[in-house]
Amino acid sequence: MDKFVIHGGKKLEGEVVISGSKNAALALMPATLLASGKYRFENIPDLRDITTMSKLLEMMGVEIEKRSHTMELNTFRVSKLEAPYEQVKKMRASIYVLGPLIARYGYAKVSLPGGCAWGPRPVNLHIEGIQKLGAKIEIDKGYIIAKAKRLKAAKITFDISSVGATGNILMAAVLAKGTTTIENAAIEPEIIALAEFLVRMGARINGIGTTRLEIEGVDALNPSDDVMIPDRIEAGTFLVAAAITGGSITLNGCNPNHLTAIITKLQETGSLVTIGKTWIKIKAHRTIKPVDVTTSVFPGFPTDMQAQWIALMSIAKGSSVITDTIYFDRFKHVPELARLGADIEQDRNTAITKGVKKLIGAKVMSTDLRASASLVLAGLVAEGKTEVLRIYHLDRGYEHIEKKLHSLGANIRRVSGKEY
Ligand code: UD1
Repeated sequence: MDKFVIHGGKKLEGEVVISGSKNAALALMPATLLASGKYRFENIPDLRDITTMSKLLEMMGVEIEKRSHTMELNTFRVSKLEAPYEQVKKMRASIYVLGPLIARYGYAKVSLPGGCAWGPRPVNLHIEGIQKLGAKIEIDKGYIIAKAKRLKAAKITFDISSVGATGNILMAAVLAKGTTTIENAAIEPEIIALAEFLVRMGARINGIGTTRLEIEGVDALNPSDDVMIPDRIEAGTFLVAAAITGGSITLNGCNPNHLTAIITKLQETGSLVTIGKTWIKIKAHRTIKPVDVTTSVFPGFPTDMQAQWIALMSIAKGSSVITDTIYFDRFKHVPELARLGADIEQDRNTAITKGVKKLIGAKVMSTDLRASASLVLAGLVAEGKTEVLRIYHLDRGYEHIEKKLHSLGANIRRVSGKEY
């Protein structure tokens, strides 16, 4: 297990290229199960979650070749219609194979994901949606077993807006008989990317980008190629890295339209942010004004940026209130940030952060992907040496984060070793 050793206090300066979206790739890769043939994806990020999804698809018989950021998939020989616990427990997004498998092969056996580091994350909406499309579902020894001859269209209304359930039901409905409607569909950019990819494969989907999707099922789809959209959470994390260190950086290869809520909040802290079509420039202000944040579904402030925002607010000039309405228990970073001197009081799903003059380096422990990112951000500004342990969480979702931060002037290095 590797760790990061960071000597804080360097202002980030320069330019950085944003990688392809992890969550878009994790949705599009299983979508290839919907039609036999060859696919070519560009701008695939080099991440552990992508390797996990590749392994899962390979276990099913998909042939995958990855060279740099290009991935070629061949789905001619899919034979095993199963996602075992060993893979699903590593990554919840494995549940994305459920929709395509049941739609195309009439059978799927997918492990229930179980809990996660930040509390319960149920998949009831996925299961209920697939059932509504006519599949028989049995839960047996921790597995969802779905069977159907051909799925039939249904009217599906989600009580909660869910990225994963929208993606899964969308992938199932494209091959169902008749016209399915999904109300309260997620409109996150990754879902739009998935829907547009499915349309390129021959699916008939109306209402893309709205909360009401209308899907007219077709008999068969064809393989297609795609280029992954930029990762908006990686971009947001780098913007906060600049703000927290008092730096000035330019992000290239990003989509500012996906980052409006984050940019607006950063401007409220005093940072100067300018945008182009595919770039964002940020120049931090000397002092950080406290800014409250409540996470919500897109285009609101993403829950995947909540931990990084708390890190930023921990050195703001005053108090701020950060509430997570998507995941109530997603605050594992709070006690770790406190080890660096942050003054944060957590009350259920709200963190009241009183900005301190400075953070002081210490050893801290990664618990999940975004919590780890917040610890790295705090380490960049903390006085002295911070060691972030168990950074395999970061490798799941940030492509070469230490190299990118280093290229911007941060004093950060990866140290390999067993005991971290
Ligand atoms: C996706 C993202 C994750 C992000 C989250 C919210 C991927 C691979 N992951 O996760 O990074 O933090 O969106 O933007 O894209 N819910 C239920 N029942 C369900 C499904 C969800 O109650 O069957 C609830 C969840 O507990 C949560 C809310 O719905 O409170 C939203 O979760 P959801 O959008 O489904 O998150 P994921 O798709 O798992």
